[in-house]
Amino acid sequence: MRELVVSLGERSYPILVGAGCRHRLAELVPIRAERAAIVTQEAIPWPVDTGIEQRTFFIDDGEEAKNLETIDDLCRSFARWDMHRRDVVVAVGGGVVTDVAGFAAAIYHRGIPVIHVATTLLGQVDAAIGGKTGVNLPEGKNLVGAFWQPSAVLCDTETLGTLPPREYRSGQGEMAKYRFLGVPGLLDMPLDEAVAACVACKAEIVGSDERESGRRALLNYGHTLAHALETAGRYDLRHGEAVAIGLVFAARLAERLGRIDANRVAEHLALVSAYDLPNRPPPGLDALELVSIMARDKKASAGGLTFVLDGSHGLDVVNGIADRQVIDALEEFLP
Ligand code: GLY
Repeated sequence: MRELVVSLGERSYPILVGAGCRHRLAELVPIRAERAAIVTQEAIPWPVDTGIEQRTFFIDDGEEAKNLETIDDLCRSFARWDMHRRDVVVAVGGGVVTDVAGFAAAIYHRGIPVIHVATTLLGQVDAAIGGKTGVNLPEGKNLVGAFWQPSAVLCDTETLGTLPPREYRSGQGEMAKYRFLGVPGLLDMPLDEAVAACVACKAEIVGSDERESGRRALLNYGHTLAHALETAGRYDLRHGEAVAIGLVFAARLAERLGRIDANRVAEHLALVSAYDLPNRPPPGLDALELVSIMARDKKASAGGLTFVLDGSHGLDVVNGIADRQVIDALEEFLP
């Protein structure tokens, strides 16, 4: 079992990584909590024991459940159960569950503690760590939310054994991006070690830039196109699959802008293929539509598009990329 820390002064919190670490939940429940609201989904087969009075609240499956109605339902359920400010929410699940439960915790009684028990690879290496919570609007993904740091995160790698293969592969799409954030050798590591290496990288970045005023944005590598593909919404793509496609596109765009050479693009392609993830978007996409979605993304700046791009000194956030450049690159990239 590995124990890592997100260092945020008095809001610092531990992240446990390893098989069976969910059994340590009770020792991480805040001392003053009397009740724990477990937020999970019916299909998640991982009961947890908080050691205090607990009640389970189910949310629906899938990205469609990440909406304000689910938040309304949860907060009203907490109120009907008479939950107080000292009590704790425990999210058990993947990114949808931790995003939704974290946001409900952030706003209920103006903020109550939350612990994430991440049961998917994507949740463990990304979504559960760093305090980004929120839901989607019909206009776009994650447009409503809050930074609300958990008081602990448990990445129980035993839970990954029961993931459907496609869900597991999708998590590898998020894992792949860490290679370009300076985590080498992930493909050759045992799973626990690889998860811990990604978690350590993310914990360090979040500790240095909690609110994404600078380098935390590097964690969005591959996400500009990925979010547009997901928002376009007509394709059967998991988040990590969209990120994998987004990584390859970002590399091609960086090459077009003279930041990297063809060998480095080939490295991106080889990594994505090694994880058995798609490296091209599905057919039927329109470059203009994707660019207009990207322009609406909350990470976009005035006067051009924003991408995280690779370069000779590593990743950078590059603002002000002309729409035309991106449209041309997309037209070359789309099948
Ligand atoms: N998923 C990117 C971040 O947490 O900043």
